[in-house]
Amino acid sequence: MDREIIVEAPAKVNLTLDILGKRPDGYHELETVMHQITLTDRVHLFSNQHGIILDTNSSDIPRDQNNLAYRAAELAMGKYGRGEGISIFIEKNIPVGAGLAGGSTDAAAVLLGLDHLMDWHLSRESLLEMGAALGSDVPFCMLGMPLQKKADNCFAVAGATALAQGRGEIMSPLPKQIIRHIVLVKPPFQMSTAEVYRAFRLEGVLEHPDTGVFLETWAGGDNSDIARRMVNVLETVSVAQKPEIGQLKQRLVQLGAVQALMSGSGPSVFGIFETEDSAQAAVSALKKDYREVFLVSSY
Ligand code: C5P
Repeated sequence: MDREIIVEAPAKVNLTLDILGKRPDGYHELETVMHQITLTDRVHLFSNQHGIILDTNSSDIPRDQNNLAYRAAELAMGKYGRGEGISIFIEKNIPVGAGLAGGSTDAAAVLLGLDHLMDWHLSRESLLEMGAALGSDVPFCMLGMPLQKKADNCFAVAGATALAQGRGEIMSPLPKQIIRHIVLVKPPFQMSTAEVYRAFRLEGVLEHPDTGVFLETWAGGDNSDIARRMVNVLETVSVAQKPEIGQLKQRLVQLGAVQALMSGSGPSVFGIFETEDSAQAAVSALKKDYREVFLVSSY
């Protein structure tokens, strides 16, 4: 049994996000295409004798039950552990409160990493069930399981793209396509997912994504065609609350993006570029005004 492992945890962007209505359970009925990108946290797991301990290099995330990764360990160890403890160290690179599923991917990495470290050999269904209990985006972040060995004690999921429906937990995996040049910018503020959803009004939406057409376009693989089909209905809330998000989208297009979109409930915005050079130039320009600018591609 390995005593320490590192699990790479990729962020996601939403290439489309549609809301069909409100559900009786208070959540929203979603139709969204999620896609993992090469911006990653690294989640270290060590077995110990003293219960659950979480530490991180980030000042932006909690070290207790308020961290979804902590709750993931608590859930899994409570259900399948035999009294062992676990130390978690999160090397944080993914911006927090950003619409990039940073917390969800760390939680997914904890579940998959513990299953490996503790030799539980849990079924896909048991793992996904725990993920869904933790949060709507966690099952998607686990979709690329089982963990593959990348280096000595370093593991990673395979990059995934999926259409997520229902609360976000009903997933249809989509064929592998590579988006080569994505420029991602996190403005210097956070959005609360719960508050954005609470303020959402279906009547306020002027343009819904055509998810059927998007899926056909996705299958074709052309990055520019894919970019042109991207729509996120949550922009109606987030851009109204924070006009800087809309300005940032425009700026990305002015800098050469085929199209730019807000990810999830925001505030992160990403643009898809046709060439490496134009993407690099956009990154250089944006770095003058923003601290968190990333050049990424499909994971
Ligand atoms: O499931 P999760 O805790 O990640 O969701 C965060 C918040 O986003 C929920 O509390 C809810 O307010 C909102 N949400 C929603 N409909 C969804 C997913 C999330 O209203 N399908």
